[in-house]
Amino acid sequence: MIRLLFIGDVVGRSGRVALLEQVPTLRARWRLDFVIVNGENAAGGFGLTEAIFEDFLSVGVDAVTLGNHAFDQREALVFIERQPRLIRPVNFPAGTPGRGAALVESKSGARLLVVNVMGRIFMDALDDPFAAVKRELGACPLGEACDASVVDFHAEASSEKWAFAHFADGKASLVVGTHTHVPSADHRILAGGTGFITDVGMTGDYDSVIGMEKDEPLRIPSGRFEPAQGPATLCAIAVEIGPDGLTKTIAPVRIGGLLKGAEPDFWA
Ligand SMILES: [Fe+2]
Ligand SMILES: [Fe+2]
Repeated sequence: MIRLLFIGDVVGRSGRVALLEQVPTLRARWRLDFVIVNGENAAGGFGLTEAIFEDFLSVGVDAVTLGNHAFDQREALVFIERQPRLIRPVNFPAGTPGRGAALVESKSGARLLVVNVMGRIFMDALDDPFAAVKRELGACPLGEACDASVVDFHAEASSEKWAFAHFADGKASLVVGTHTHVPSADHRILAGGTGFITDVGMTGDYDSVIGMEKDEPLRIPSGRFEPAQGPATLCAIAVEIGPDGLTKTIAPVRIGGLLKGAEPDFWA
């Protein structure tokens, strides 16, 4: 069995502190094979720096996915080329620096394919996410070229996420929605064995507007959005993946901050 924890969008310093503190503890306590993190909001709410990315790897994160904020920190356009564990949406225009999928290996030798893709409803106009992911999964079949796979579907519309999850059912181990920063309560295993949650939520301060200081959007907007500074809730999804590459158990994780706590009972 492969144990995987996928952690939702880390927002600003508050989110980073929670992540750096929790990942080593959770890795050891739950004997995790893989920890994947969405880092698109880690640097002041906008994008990711190389120093922050390396901090994440240093505490035991295996790979970092991105989204619409992928290149808000311009340095990411350069350092993504030398960081094979940093993954931006696969359906960005041809010629975009970096990669949309990567294969990472656990200490025990298990191979996990990580794909990041963006939806198109209420989002930027990008290439077809369904076709792009089909290509990536087809190039690295479950049970042959990899032992497990996770698709981070970064999108606004729950309808698009559900449609995509059914499209990928049986072909990926896990489809996890990101971007709204609001955890949904619909985690489940689909008919074909793919684990799914519409949105995993963020790792940030929930006394905020999706992780950003709540006063600013309520006044005359200045455009100077800053991350909220209160204690973060780490939001994640925990799954156990069988030898067939399909999800056997799935549970939400919420640790710290304002949201009511949740932990998987199957690893107790
Ligand atoms: Fe985000
Ligand atoms: Fe986003």
